[in-house]
Amino acid sequence: MAMKITVIGLGYLGTTHAVAMAKVGHQVIGIEPNQQKIDSLVQGRAGFFEPGLDQELAAQLASGRLTFKQAHDESSRDADIHFICVGTPQSAGSMAADTSYLESAIQALAPFLREDALVVGKSTVPVGTAAKLAQQLAKATGFTSPNLAWNPEFLREGTALEDSLHPDRLVIGVTNPRSEALLREVFAPMIDAGIPFLVTDLATAELVKAAANAFLATKISFINAMAEIAEVSGADATELAQAIGYDERIGNKFLRNGVGFGGGCLPKDIRALIARAEELGVGESVSYLHEIDKINLRRRDRVITLLTEELGSLSGKRVLVLGAAFKPDSDDVRDSPALGIALLARAAGAEVVVHDPIALHGVAVKHPELELEQDLAKAFIGIHAVVLATEWKEYRELDPNTVTPKEKFIIDGRNVLDVARWQQAGFKVLALGRTITN
Ligand code: UDX
Repeated sequence: MAMKITVIGLGYLGTTHAVAMAKVGHQVIGIEPNQQKIDSLVQGRAGFFEPGLDQELAAQLASGRLTFKQAHDESSRDADIHFICVGTPQSAGSMAADTSYLESAIQALAPFLREDALVVGKSTVPVGTAAKLAQQLAKATGFTSPNLAWNPEFLREGTALEDSLHPDRLVIGVTNPRSEALLREVFAPMIDAGIPFLVTDLATAELVKAAANAFLATKISFINAMAEIAEVSGADATELAQAIGYDERIGNKFLRNGVGFGGGCLPKDIRALIARAEELGVGESVSYLHEIDKINLRRRDRVITLLTEELGSLSGKRVLVLGAAFKPDSDDVRDSPALGIALLARAAGAEVVVHDPIALHGVAVKHPELELEQDLAKAFIGIHAVVLATEWKEYRELDPNTVTPKEKFIIDGRNVLDVARWQQAGFKVLALGRTITN
């Protein structure tokens, strides 16, 4: 049955969730303090690149099931469920997550909350946050035990809407049967479709998300550590990943070696887990995550080493970095390995040109020291070395005969190029995690 809900905070997570909830038939009010964002949303533009999202946003606006407001008003009182989707970024000056946006969201909602309504946190948080927010909510509302649940979101950028509508599993952390019943109702279409539905306590639901991202980051850094060994022993990490991946207990996903992981989630989430475990007195349990982070960052240094081995001093050399986004089909440049490499090359004296099909707008203001080029063929002109850092389709399918750099030298940072083809076109090709004979 259609329910009335609000979705608080319309960033990546909130916008996608609001659209997904409207699509399954609920009446959704999106709450976002930033008026500019609302102006864009009401015109059917999410404000970030996510395949299919703008189209679905427009469809849901047209359906009348999705509206936006800058702040709660009396209409929020009609809602049965309030989903909180605000950001929890890394705190300035520490590894811990900053949960202040959640606290503000709770404070702003409290005057409009019905006692039988449910508040559901979806943001990624340090374990123990939900219990604290429940206390804050009790104080702000005067309710003895307000209904608060946690429902972590596992969506990936690039497939966000699909992941929201057809998740691998739904996890809800609850403290009472009413909360569970309301969540079963709101997710009924997904539960009916057979999606696994796990009911836990608050702490477990919070920790599931941190654990999932830590595991994924560990898998990537594991294969990148093997790549480091492969590089000095002549082995091939890409073939190695394929071989171990056939073991079902290991699996072949998230074993692509290269310049490593980035984005708005994995890097900050492993750091937040380290910080929280230390606060809880069990820092040792995840101290290995420091290494996971370090292995990841070392891959960027490796690219600079390969560049200097080939070019000597980078001073005065023009280096083209293919990609700025942290992964393809996204315009997100947060903690992007590609951008990290561009900045390291620049710090080593190179003149750096960055190309990306869609993400350059996020780089221009923050990094005026980088030269940005939107035209791929033009980007190659005068270039001494090319680094493929984000595996956009444009780069995977690029005909090497159509580009004319000054020196034909490319480093495949994602192991996606057809090496023989590039070599036939006259390029010297190096890659991470394997030794290529040129
Ligand atoms: C991740 C989680 O997958 C998602 O479940 C969670 O909700 C948010 O964080 P996302 O940040 O969108 O999603 O990206 P993801 O597809 O996980 O990739 C993360 C990074 O790892 C990217 O930089 C990607 O290039 C890199 N990666 C991924 C590898 O280097 N090797 C791999 O094998 C897989």
